Order: sequence, then C-alpha cells, then structure tokens
Amino acid sequence: MPSETPAPDTAARSLAHWSEAGRREMEAFYALARLDYRLLAEALDYPELFRGVRDRAGGGEITLLDVACGSGKFPEALLEHTDLPALADDGLRVAYDLLDPAPFSLTEAAAVLRPPFQEAASHEVTMEDLDAGVGPFDVVWATHALYALQPGNVDAAAMRMLEALAPHGVLLLAQGTHDGHYLAFYRAFLEGVRGGEGTEYVSCEQVTDALRRAGAGDTHGVDVRRLSYEHVVQDDDREVLEGFLQRCAFDDTVSLEEMRAAPVLGDYLDACHDAEAGVHRFRQEVDLVLLTPTDGIPA
Ligand SMILES: C[S@@+](CC[C@H](N)C(=O)[O-])C[C@H]1O[C@@H](n2cnc3c(N)ncnc32)[C@H](O)[C@@H]1O
Repeated sequence: MPSETPAPDTAARSLAHWSEAGRREMEAFYALARLDYRLLAEALDYPELFRGVRDRAGGGEITLLDVACGSGKFPEALLEHTDLPALADDGLRVAYDLLDPAPFSLTEAAAVLRPPFQEAASHEVTMEDLDAGVGPFDVVWATHALYALQPGNVDAAAMRMLEALAPHGVLLLAQGTHDGHYLAFYRAFLEGVRGGEGTEYVSCEQVTDALRRAGAGDTHGVDVRRLSYEHVVQDDDREVLEGFLQRCAFDDTVSLEEMRAAPVLGDYLDACHDAEAGVHRFRQEVDLVLLTPTDGIPA
C-alpha cells in the first residue's frame, strides 16, 4: 500500500523514505542490497587498514565519521564478514560518529554497532551542512551514501568530507557508477514514469571528481577499484522485486506492472529479464575509492 504521495524531487523523497513508514520497502530492498555491503567488506583488508591508521594516529582510540549512515549495513557487514571484531580483543577502539539528516537512520545505525565500534556523537545534518567545528577524524567513510545529494551541493559535501579528515587519515567512498543499475534504473524511471522531470542520482564519478577538485589528490593517493556484480531476484519473488525497485526510486506509488508498462523503464526491465532462468539480473557497477596519505597506508 502506498505510504504517501511522493514529494516532488529526489532529495526530499529520499528523506521521506528514511523513516519508520519506509521500513517494509527498506527491508525488501536489503533482501538484495545487503550484497552491496558484503562485497565491500570483502574488498579490502580492514584489520590492516585500521592497524595502519592506529599507528599513524599514535596508538589508542581511533575516531571515525560514517557519512550518511543509513541503517548501518556497512558496519554490520564488517562485523559479520571481517576479522575486525577480533581486533577489539587486541585493544582497538573506534569512536564511531554517525551523520545523517534522517533521525530514523541515526537510530537504526546506532543499534548495530558492536566492538571495536563504539557509538560516539550523532550528527542530524546533511554532509554539506556539517558544522565546521566537527572533526578531524582518523577515518571518514561514505558507503552507498550520497546518491540523493542535490547536484549543486556535491562540491560542498566533498569539501566538507576532506576538511573532516585528519592529515594522517583514510577516506573511503563507495557508490554506484553512472552506468550501474542504481543510476541507470533511476534515469529510466524519471524518463519513463515522470516524463523526464526530476533530479538524477549522483554517481561515484561525480563525488570522486569533486573530491579531486577539493584537493584530495594533493594530500592523498586516490585509488579507485571497480566492483561489478549482479543482484539476482526470482521472477516469482514479486514482493522483493517490486520493493527493491520501488526503493531504488524512493517511490512506492508505482507498481511493478506500471513500471513494466512505462516507456523506457519497461525496456530497461525487459533487458534485465532472463526469462529462461526465470530471474531478473540487475547489473551493478560500484566504485570503491580509497584516499590514503601520500606516504601510504597498506590496505
Ligand atoms: C542508502 S543509505 C546509506 C547506507 C549506509 N551507508 C549503510 O551502511 O547502510 C543513504 C542515507 O543517506 C542519507 N542522506 C541523504 N542525503 C544526504 C546528505 N546530503 N548528506 C548526508 N546524508 C544524506 C539518507 O537519509 C540515508 O539515510
């Protein structure tokens, strides 16, 4: 059942859906999208990365800012799929600040934190509006985080992320690329369902370029790794298929049948349909961007 009339544009709809009213749709989405975080957790040697940061920070507690924390799927995946929890026994303590404009997200993410992550401050604000006095942090990360930024605010958000990073610190950005499913689907949705009205999602390339414009390449090495994979959903798992796609558009007022019947979007969905196997395959392309101080941190 539709939970609300969609607000006019992407940023406002994103904020409205990061709420208790959006929980059902969020859970259908993560039935598939949990994979995004497991693959990120498997892509780097995080214990090694944290050991390096701790050495540079002079030992003791590490500070971390989770930008656009959402419901905390990234820290959850790290706790489940890496050896980071064992580092807590080795004395690692990460003071974990959460940032998100949605209070729902701050509460959800706080609930998943376990050692070595220890909840510290919560910042109910957008990245671009984070108070200049907050930081610097030893680690700043933004994972599948900044799709709904207003395009005019991308530079301000990138600048503020860099300012919030300690000189010896590490920044990790992971986000869908221009051609991956999240952005391609939403472009087709806006074109086919909304008559071309509305703001497209921001790509990883756009945020990376903005980080470079803000001077990331002067102080840090910028390493970009591309992850390519598929989200596969059975055709008869209608609830997950529809819920996933609705969440991809932050719009639960458009049914699966309406999406299939729409121009442009219908063609996109047809192209994702493997009728022989009875599944839809959504081709993801995600860049994992790691900024490390120029004198290097093993990662
Ligand atoms: C897909 S979630 C992020 C997922 C999260 N990193 C995780 O580990 O589960 C996107 C989040 O971005 C937040 N958001 C939207 N616009 C934002 C902005 N301008 N600055 C910071 N966060 C924003 C939303 O409220 C939402 O909670």
